[in-house]
Order: sequence, then structure tokens, then C-alpha cells
Amino acid sequence: MKFFIDTANIEEIKKGIEMGLVDGVTTNPTLLSKEKKDPQRTIKEILSIVEGPVSLEVIAKDSKGMCEEARKLSSLGTNTVIKIPMTEEGMKAVRVLSQEGIKTNVTLIFQPVQALIAAKAGADYVSPFIGRLDDISARGMEVIEDTITIFSNYGYETEIIVASIRHPLHVLQAAIIGADIATIPFNVLKQLMSHPLTDIGLERFLKDWESIKK
Ligand code: G3P
Repeated sequence: MKFFIDTANIEEIKKGIEMGLVDGVTTNPTLLSKEKKDPQRTIKEILSIVEGPVSLEVIAKDSKGMCEEARKLSSLGTNTVIKIPMTEEGMKAVRVLSQEGIKTNVTLIFQPVQALIAAKAGADYVSPFIGRLDDISARGMEVIEDTITIFSNYGYETEIIVASIRHPLHVLQAAIIGADIATIPFNVLKQLMSHPLTDIGLERFLKDWESIKK
């Protein structure tokens, strides 16, 4: 399973790369707004340090505006992927952009048929938001399971990005059901490596080592 990092924070991306856990990056307008600096500058900085796909989201609501923004964003780097919202206008834009060879990631997906429609339109990636579904007591991971089945039934190559991840259990479940990609916030990325028994075990090893040195 590929690990993307879900952030627009340069330090987090750099640390994730050092950990070897950044196969790609996903951003969105909310994440960029948290950085409190010129988003264009942040986007260029991200593209300069990341080799894998970097998802950048359009703001326009109409397909023409989305396509114009997408062309500008995609000209910033060869690894750009354009995030398009799951709307009627968005699907028109995905169709046009896929014919132009511009990679797309359809975002704000909350049910499997939306993912199917995005794949039919030619999306390279779909991003079901599982955490936001769990937040309202729906079963987010079932959307991933059903989307995997649907894509497999019809041979779609569109990759599934498990998005809106809240905790390590989401990553575990995504890996067990065979999702292509998990896009993970930095705090969860760090949690993935830690376990209290690892800390206790390491402390004991070091203490025992000290005792034989005396
Ligand atoms: O990649 C989409 C993701 O950023 C949404 O996450 O935590 O805002 O639901 P969240």
C-alpha cells in the first residue's frame, strides 16, 4: 500500500520523507489555509521536494473554470494531480482533463457509486473520506470495500485513496482490505510507528545493558 501524507506543511512533508513514508502528497484548500502563507509559494515548495504525485485542488465551481485552473496547476510540475470535487461540473472537467492527459483525483466522495462515476469519467484517483463518514456514525471503511469490489468487477485502474484518516486503525483496516493508497495526516503517520510495549521493551534492554557494564 502506498502512503501519501495529507498536509501542506513543508516541515511535516520533509520529516515524512526522512521516515521513508511519503509516496505522494495530498493537499486541499483547508490544509493550505492552515499554513498562513501564500498558497502558490507553498505549492511550489511542495513540488520542489516531493517526487511522487502531489494533489492540488481547484477552487472553481464550473467545469470551464476548473479546467483552466487545472491546466495552470499542472504546468507547475510533472507530478501534479488535480483534485476535482465530486459534482456534475466536476465530472465534466474530469472527462476533458483526462483526454488532455492531466491526472485527476476526485475528492469529497462519500458513497461507492460516486467513485464508480468518477472512474467512468476517467479519474486517475478517487478519494473517499472515511473519517467524516465515521464522524456521523456511518461506516466509512465500507465505502472503500465496496469501491474495491466495483473497480475489480469492471477492471477500472482508478486508484483508491483512503482519505480523511483519523487514527492508525483506519490505516490497518485499509491495508487489510487492500486499498491502493492511504493519505495520512502527520500525527497519525508518527503514531503508526509507536507502541507502548516497544517503549517499555527498549527501556528494559538499555537498563539491562547498563547493568552488565558496571
Ligand atoms: O484528503 C482529504 C482529507 O484532508 C480530509 O480530511 O480530516 O478534513 O476530514 P478531514
